[in-house]
Amino acid sequence: MPIHTTSDGWVLETQATGYALGLNQAGLLVHRYWGPRLLDPDDYPRAPDSAGWASFNNPAQLTPEEYPGYEDMKFVEPCLKVTFGDGVRDVVLRFAGAEVHEADGPELRIQLRDQAYPFRLTLHYRVHAAYDLIERWVTATNDGDTPLQIERIWSAQWHLPPGDAYRLSHLTGRHMNEFSLRREPLTHGVKVLESRRITTSHHHSPWFAVDRGHADEDAGEVWFGALAWSGNWKLAAEVTDFGSTRVNLGLNDWDFAWRLAPGESFVAPSSYSGYSYEGFGGASRRLHDFVRDTLLPHGKTLHKVLYNSWEATEFDVDEPSQIHLAELAAALGVELFVMDDGWFHGRNHDRAGLGDWWPDARKFPNGLQPLIDRVNALGMEFGIWIEPEMVNPDSDLYRAHPDWVIHFPTRARTEGRNQLILNVARADVQEYLIEKLDRLLSDHNIAFIKWDMNRNVSEPGWPDAPSDPRELWVRYVQGLYHIWGTLRERHPQVIWQSCSGGGGRADLAILRLADQIWVSDNTEPATRLGIQEGFSQLFPANTMEAWVTDMGASYLSPAFRFHVSMCGVLGIGGHLARWSAAQRTEAARWIALYKEIRPIVQLGDCYRLRSPQMHPYSALQYVSKDRAEGVLFVFRTHLQGPAVLPPIYLRGLDPDARYEVEGIPGARSGRAWMHAGLSIPLNDFASSARRIRRAAG
Ligand code: GLA
Repeated sequence: MPIHTTSDGWVLETQATGYALGLNQAGLLVHRYWGPRLLDPDDYPRAPDSAGWASFNNPAQLTPEEYPGYEDMKFVEPCLKVTFGDGVRDVVLRFAGAEVHEADGPELRIQLRDQAYPFRLTLHYRVHAAYDLIERWVTATNDGDTPLQIERIWSAQWHLPPGDAYRLSHLTGRHMNEFSLRREPLTHGVKVLESRRITTSHHHSPWFAVDRGHADEDAGEVWFGALAWSGNWKLAAEVTDFGSTRVNLGLNDWDFAWRLAPGESFVAPSSYSGYSYEGFGGASRRLHDFVRDTLLPHGKTLHKVLYNSWEATEFDVDEPSQIHLAELAAALGVELFVMDDGWFHGRNHDRAGLGDWWPDARKFPNGLQPLIDRVNALGMEFGIWIEPEMVNPDSDLYRAHPDWVIHFPTRARTEGRNQLILNVARADVQEYLIEKLDRLLSDHNIAFIKWDMNRNVSEPGWPDAPSDPRELWVRYVQGLYHIWGTLRERHPQVIWQSCSGGGGRADLAILRLADQIWVSDNTEPATRLGIQEGFSQLFPANTMEAWVTDMGASYLSPAFRFHVSMCGVLGIGGHLARWSAAQRTEAARWIALYKEIRPIVQLGDCYRLRSPQMHPYSALQYVSKDRAEGVLFVFRTHLQGPAVLPPIYLRGLDPDARYEVEGIPGARSGRAWMHAGLSIPLNDFASSARRIRRAAG
């Protein structure tokens, strides 16, 4: 039973972990424990009492509350800040009941009620036992007859065991250089990571891992988590003056307000967190399995090798040139042909066309059907690029509806890449986009959509907002989910890819809609190694679309370029018409090999053996779930000579079974490959992909 009720609270148990919370003597809902699962529900520590410290630190300041509201003399980061109708800005929440819903997750629901106002908060704890994850979110309800205003509503405060010093791992970056992994000590005060860009952002990811400073990929205690939200978010990791460490995760409260009308509820997004005693690798593998098994719309469907025309032709697409590329792609073994930007009305460059989602009559005089028919006849599926939330001022849509964009009437409308953002919080905008895109999908045999989003917000106004215009930050994302969700429901066979100028919208919530993420516009393979490593902290390889393009082709071998992309979902994005016959023959060989190994890469366990961000000689391994097969990728970028290359120690094998590693004579035990290691000599900018197979008998 994953949820136990104990004398002073509740214990949530997963396969390997326990999480305990309860009521202390003062009646406050407090954190008790988060770590390895203990033998007995009564083994978990009791709820800590509230103690104070002189007049400057009331008990409220020192109590590890599960979900502190702003009240009393509380100066730690609260999760909730509310202003009631009469102007009172202090929320006094106290325990009012708890229920366990076994069928629903299972889920523990705890009710907190304000002591003076008809305001209620439900804390939800859902246990994902097989993944050692706990999902937390909250619902706020106004049971009264006057509106109130929510100014902050985070999804969870995650408490680390008290009294220790911790290190925070997080991802940071920018366009063309997303997902750089950083590790730094958490010191007294608050470390804030956030997005204020209306998307998840290239700059930080709503993900964290916290350890005591000495965990590695294989071993050590790691507490980790992520927020499932694709708009403004905030992570506030606080070390209090009394040495208590907690990580808050939720919607960004910056410029945020939500008017909660009588009878209404507000549901905050889910935050998922877990504990691993198998280091950062163990944390990642738990998230990977969870994403693949429970979030992705098409779950464990193997993804096809695609060709995308963007880096080859940019806006210069038309029927004959796309058909030519499609013929070349089919001959390589490509299974899905994706036409990128440039196909729709008036789209000859990035200054016009966005919003007018029908085929450009000059480029496609007979519509898209002849191209799609040809692609299908070549044995490939057809995919297409869209950027629904955007509009160019030079478009029929903007000329008809200039008021549909996010703007302040008295301010200039700042353009990014010559475009403005449609306010998808508006019902009329939602209807327009659903109608246009539904028609595109209904009229054509489209198997794949790349959904792009190429700028961040400015002048975040909503002139005729029905409620507080600052609700835009949340209602925009809800509108996006509504449009995308409606289209997905109507066209369930379509595979969607989330792109935002690369990895600008990568999070657990978008993966309920999209099966894949376009990780970065940077396809230079050596740089990509680090980007992909960061991405893999959170996301599984079957969500990681990776193209071989012409970037890096002048100094990196085709093998290196293919090996990098084969670590995820292989795609091709180079200008095939300019590839020589020999290059195309070699590409066909790599694609054929990828098709053999893709079940292991896309659905297996990922082991980061040596970090490319730390070492110019790096390695990554995938192992099938039954541990019968694996693939090892080894890369060397520039290493000053003379260099002694370290052994590579494999991971994830059955220690007592015997395995063969391609290119190395003789079978050895899993134990030997994992502890004695193997040597893969490589020159600068060379790579190797080796298959690993359990030996017969
Ligand atoms: C963004 C995407 C690219 C490409 C272009 C098209 O930059 O990340 O892959 O689709 O837009 O304009």
